[in-house]
Amino acid sequence: MDTIIKKIDKKQMNREVIRKAGQILKEGGLVAFPTETVYGLGANALDEEAAKKTYAAKGRPSDNPLIVHIADMSYLPEIVTEIPEAAVKVAERFWPGPLTMIFHKSERVPYGTTGGLDTVAVRMPSHEIAREVILAGGGYVSAPSANTSGRPSPTTAEHVAEDLCGKIEMIVDGGAVDIGVESSILDVTVTPPMILRPGAVTKEMLEDVIGEVTVDKTLIRPDSRTVPKAPGMKYRHYAPKASLSVVEGEPKDVVEFINRQTKEQIAKGCRVGIIATAETMNQYRSGDVKCVGTRADEMTIASGLFGILREFDADEVDVIYSEAFREEGIGSAIMNRLLKAAGHHIVKV
Ligand code: TXA
Ligand code: MG
Repeated sequence: MDTIIKKIDKKQMNREVIRKAGQILKEGGLVAFPTETVYGLGANALDEEAAKKTYAAKGRPSDNPLIVHIADMSYLPEIVTEIPEAAVKVAERFWPGPLTMIFHKSERVPYGTTGGLDTVAVRMPSHEIAREVILAGGGYVSAPSANTSGRPSPTTAEHVAEDLCGKIEMIVDGGAVDIGVESSILDVTVTPPMILRPGAVTKEMLEDVIGEVTVDKTLIRPDSRTVPKAPGMKYRHYAPKASLSVVEGEPKDVVEFINRQTKEQIAKGCRVGIIATAETMNQYRSGDVKCVGTRADEMTIASGLFGILREFDADEVDVIYSEAFREEGIGSAIMNRLLKAAGHHIVKV
């Protein structure tokens, strides 16, 4: 299949591109589009066949449910059976934005979309192109991250094209995304509500609005006996081709350890990648050193992470060392994705 790729400027939206995207979605096809978190692979969320195509294009296991994207609160009651008080408050504060909530699904949502579950994940993105595409596509657009299953989520249209060109009808190229890690997921079917995936809307931010919020314990330091509550979190995601180790400790010790390891690996003939920060960048002596962002603004680290993992794939490094990050605020999302990419291989120095 030929994939149509169309650039679009969110400040000067080309209506023809939006119309075309909407038409493809309504006809049951697949359209990738930018959101503020990562690029999504859109399909009609109420069409079982479209869900099948989504799983096939991504090579994703079909027990891993999709998030239904809406552009306006008036669409929510159609697809859920109940909107708990906490969800109303959270939606008022954080929608549109990088947050997904889990509800009991109504009959309108096919099991193909929810991976067989009686619950449905719903998100209202703030990205203007996403909102226009959702409305043009009929109002209910399922959108997993637009990557091949197992690869880092795409933060640019080029990343999407790398993975899905020839497998989907269209890519709407709205440039690089803003946040760079996927939405926070909050399960509001339980009391107190539980975070199933950390993202830019943090536990502290949610607790400010609704009081106590719990966190699925498997998210950061999982023990192998407990299965994560969001089915997708059990897979080794975001995995680079090289083996990745996350190094934790005092900054000076971390740099020293990585320098020593890098030297040894290079002596053995391996290519080594290093995920460094603006603060440490110049302290590394060898290896393929890339700066993911600055610790002074951790949002830069979130937005740089997936792109860097893809660059190391392209550079064909054998081993990657990354500095660890603090697990507060957006840091919990960063460490959650980084540790998943590392298959939870963490070195304490
Ligand atoms: O930021 C995002 O959320 C992006 C953009 C495109 O909106 N989408 C995204 O979708 O990250 P995906 O499919 O890559 O991740 C969806 C996650 C998976 O871990 C899945 O298991 C979980 O949401 N999920 C979906 N429905 C669920 C449900 N009913 N119960 C529990 N977890 C659910
Ligand atoms: Mg994903």
